[in-house]
Amino acid sequence: PQLYEAPELLVEWYRERKRDLPWRHHVNAYRVWVSEIMLQQTRVEAVKPFFERFMTELPTVKDLAEAPEDKLLKLWEGLGYYNRVRNMQKAAQKIEEEYAGKFPENYEEIKALPGIGNYTAGAISSFAYGIPKPAVDGNVLRVVSRLLASDEDIMKASVRTKIENAIEPVIPEDAASDFNQGLIELGAIVCVPNGEAKCEICPLTGICEAKRLGIQNELPVKKKA
Ligand code: ADE
Repeated sequence: PQLYEAPELLVEWYRERKRDLPWRHHVNAYRVWVSEIMLQQTRVEAVKPFFERFMTELPTVKDLAEAPEDKLLKLWEGLGYYNRVRNMQKAAQKIEEEYAGKFPENYEEIKALPGIGNYTAGAISSFAYGIPKPAVDGNVLRVVSRLLASDEDIMKASVRTKIENAIEPVIPEDAASDFNQGLIELGAIVCVPNGEAKCEICPLTGICEAKRLGIQNELPVKKKA
């Protein structure tokens, strides 16, 4: 029941409360992609200037595909994990060669690009194209584990898959982007870790099983790999 009641509450909350972040302006697949790769390793506040600079210097897939390596590495300096930006360039080159420079618009093709896994493919598909695919990152694993009072270990790939499969059928066809971003945003600013969950301002508090049981701060279970 929690999962079926969540979308309406979550989408309404997100539309009213979402933060004004640079990658939420002029949304397109390229901007979603670059921002999500940066956000995988770095906090929102720190990503902002890197994202703005990257978009100014390399505003299109073609610019990324053709960028000299030293320029690329310079734009990534301070973010670390240089393989990520190297993979992004490979993907950009593939888009140039195989898709005539046009970012692919279906989930499977997006996921087949270098460096793009389930999460990033779901984020690009849903935020840029409204495709109702899940985008499950650490924020979403925490929110959903609490909503369902699940004590399964979120470090396990099988648990992540289970959560993706549970979410997929409830993603609203007409609000996939706001639903997925709502889950991420809720995990980032309300349903936060380390005993600090702000249930008093959470739009899902009335349907949250962990809150009902008083165990929101024991969840999620996260064992060492
Ligand atoms: N963390 C990961 N993706 C994010 C996004 N799109 N907005 C804010 N925080 C995020």
